[in-house]
Amino acid sequence: MTKSNKQILKISELKQKNQIAELGGGEKRQEAQRKKGKLTARERIGMLLDPASFIESGKFIYSKDTETHNGDGVVCGLGKIWNRTVAVFAQDFTVAGGSLSRANANKIIALMDQAKSLMCPLIGLNDSGGARIQEGVESLGGYADIFLRNVELSGVVPQLSAILGPCAGGAVYSPALTDVVLMVANTSHMFITGPEVIKAVTKEDVSMEELGGALSVEEKGGVSHITCESESECLEKIRNIISFLPQNYLEKPSRLMTGDPITRDISSLNNLIPDQSNLPYDILELITTVVDLNSFIEIQENFAKNIVIGFARINGYSVGIVANQPNYLAGCLDIDSSVKAARFVRLCDSFNIPIITFVDVPGFLPGLKQEWGGIIRHGAKLLYAFAEATVPKITIICRKAYGGAYDVMSSKHLKGDVNLAYPSAEVAVMGPEAAIKIISRAEILAGASQDKLVEDYKNKFSNPWVAAGLGYIDSVIEPSSTRYVLGNTLELLKNKVAVVTNKKHGNIPL
Ligand code: HXC
Repeated sequence: MTKSNKQILKISELKQKNQIAELGGGEKRQEAQRKKGKLTARERIGMLLDPASFIESGKFIYSKDTETHNGDGVVCGLGKIWNRTVAVFAQDFTVAGGSLSRANANKIIALMDQAKSLMCPLIGLNDSGGARIQEGVESLGGYADIFLRNVELSGVVPQLSAILGPCAGGAVYSPALTDVVLMVANTSHMFITGPEVIKAVTKEDVSMEELGGALSVEEKGGVSHITCESESECLEKIRNIISFLPQNYLEKPSRLMTGDPITRDISSLNNLIPDQSNLPYDILELITTVVDLNSFIEIQENFAKNIVIGFARINGYSVGIVANQPNYLAGCLDIDSSVKAARFVRLCDSFNIPIITFVDVPGFLPGLKQEWGGIIRHGAKLLYAFAEATVPKITIICRKAYGGAYDVMSSKHLKGDVNLAYPSAEVAVMGPEAAIKIISRAEILAGASQDKLVEDYKNKFSNPWVAAGLGYIDSVIEPSSTRYVLGNTLELLKNKVAVVTNKKHGNIPL
């Protein structure tokens, strides 16, 4: 055989090996995957990354249970999104249900270590039945090794997880340790134990969709952050979220000019907030009008709707928005909204994203359910998160800022950098109707007009001027100037230097 013939044979062997590895669990299983409305692991990576940017690692690794399947149920490698390096793994459900073996875990671990040394985001596309049952403790150990790295990478590089199939056990705990979890309606599920185990143990009858479907997981548990209609939408959303984040905690997010002028006319906002302070309005209208057009991406839209969180751009700058929603539970703070916002504030702070807070909050939600559920502990998380955050913090009190909630919502006292208010702001310990019943009890018993007492209270407290007079509010602005003021302020605060007390770590009330 000539030298060139030998080469041809070797190349043909390589092509064959590549073909086998790329087929994963085989055509039949891939077809079954497509029939469920799911893509294959490689198709997902292809859609997620910039074209032709993927370099695979561990392609030919196999383990004792899946000898015939090179790659062992996970595709790993480096690639680019917006021309920036990312590390990505995609579990392949066609190989032993994407379950995690020792060999499979080792590939993911190596990738995580690479993300750490390259200081680049890590993206996990999960589609896995959890620990590979046949491998026993080896697969459990593999998951623990991954969890450890998720924790070590937390706050160092952004970690994003998509749930793209039936995910159980470790395949849900690793995503839970990451920054953003996305799901797809109808095709993705996440749970610790499936419907059958639940029925056997607790006798509860629940369908797979009800238990771990995308909407249940987001709306009831607040575990996932974004629900998408299709896998392609989910992969596009990941690309979008990456654009708001830096590569790691040492960098700032890129400024991306959108062409939307900072002086755009938003005078309609002067009529948004109702005169009567008990009437609702949609804070989303304010947010989407103020930020660069179409730039707002809401996180946990279906969970704790009394607070709105998400990423946006203002004059091209990446910002995190936190806003009370008067349209839902009057925008009050409760357990779920406090936890939701606290985690988001910490995410922004980890990755140098300035936080803009719109305040319209009547206080904390009263009631036994809240008190016994630990609202004091959970509300403290939001207080802690805002107080701890060292990124530029800009706060606008739109209307109510009552009681402890005034303090909590990124107030000046928690080192807000620039604290503003609209003329409609009401900053007080509580609303006038409740307040007069306490402080004017004697007058009311003596027959004084409650309307008059309410009016007097409003004149004294239900306005921004007392707080502004004390310097707790830097300036009172017209709503129509919000976009320009925020853009300008972000520019002026962009070189803020974080001053942190040296310590091991704080003890957030978990
Ligand atoms: C090995 C597995 C597997 C697993 C699925 N498969 N899960 N193989 N280990 N954990 C295999 C099946 O045998 C099957 O192989 C193929 O994957 C597809 O599975 P199906 O059951 O046919 O698919 P489907 O009906 O869609 O159901 C998917 C599923 C279900 C809901 C994920 O397979 C399931 O409940 N699996 C077990 C989930 C679980 O309890 N895992 C352990 C978690 S404990 P063939 O050859 O027939 O195609 C864990 C501990 C970590 O992860 C630590 C946590 C803190």
